[in-house]
Amino acid sequence: MSDADLLAPVSATATGPETGPANAKKTTQALLYVDDLRVTFDGYRALRGLSLTLAKGEMRAIIGPNGAGKTTMMDCITGKTRPDTGIALFDGTHDLTRLDEPAIADLGIGRKFQKPTVFESHTVADNILLALKGPRAGVASLFGWRNRVAAERIDALLTTVGLLAHRARPAADLSHGQKQWLEIGMLLAQDPKLLLIDEPVAGMTDAETEATATLLRTIARDHAVVVVEHDMHFVRALACRVTCLHEGAVLAEGSIDAVSADPRVVEVYLGR
Ligand SMILES: Nc1ncnc2c1ncn2[C@@H]1O[C@H](COP(=O)(O)OP(=O)(O)O)[C@@H](O)[C@H]1O
Ligand SMILES: [Mg+2]
Repeated sequence: MSDADLLAPVSATATGPETGPANAKKTTQALLYVDDLRVTFDGYRALRGLSLTLAKGEMRAIIGPNGAGKTTMMDCITGKTRPDTGIALFDGTHDLTRLDEPAIADLGIGRKFQKPTVFESHTVADNILLALKGPRAGVASLFGWRNRVAAERIDALLTTVGLLAHRARPAADLSHGQKQWLEIGMLLAQDPKLLLIDEPVAGMTDAETEATATLLRTIARDHAVVVVEHDMHFVRALACRVTCLHEGAVLAEGSIDAVSADPRVVEVYLGR
């Protein structure tokens, strides 16, 4: 399947899955199909007809000025905000606009907010253990369950996120960047099909930022990923398709070179 096949239904021509069997067939091949989402907060139109299609296994970077609607878009996809109108289909069949947050998480959509939210007093390895799918481990069930969990899975996840050497340390001892990686490891522990990551490198050192790009490229080999980020060096290092939002809709989409050379993107975002 070519890129053009997948992206055709969300071109600016206002076609959608309702317009006919041909398009419906194409859209079901997308992992995420968002069309004409509209959200209003107290009369303020935060999303004004946002459309976006993500292929299975695709990584996408989302850029755009503050207030463009990036976080609101993620809120709609994860069930935190219900749009006034519009479509958000996951895996061709699940209508995300009708599901609540736990149901959407169960479908395999994992989200990482901007601030790390790890369990500071637990070790790095236990943070991953607590995030693993299985009986919802309260501290009481933690001990009985521990033996039955493949420790290799925890170590494999810690290896992926570069924290294996820190497995026995309390999470509180980690740097800000390491906490972000641990939380990404906790997301991966839930085996999501799609990861939504909001501004992962804010506050990171240059070296951490570079390592995070490498990590996300590794993760993108077997997961779909949507990353919101302002750091354009980082976005370039992701080497993926880029979507620029502005005033609640898509302003430009394409390669990093095409999007960053787009005069409208320069005017509303890069030139500031
Ligand atoms: N819960 C809310 N109530 C009122 N206004 C909101 C709410 N969430 C977001 N907004 C407004 O919607 C607009 C889009 O916000 P947001 O999606 O957070 O933008 P971004 O993440 O691109 O910076 C902003 O003007 C913001 O102030
Ligand atoms: Mg935001």
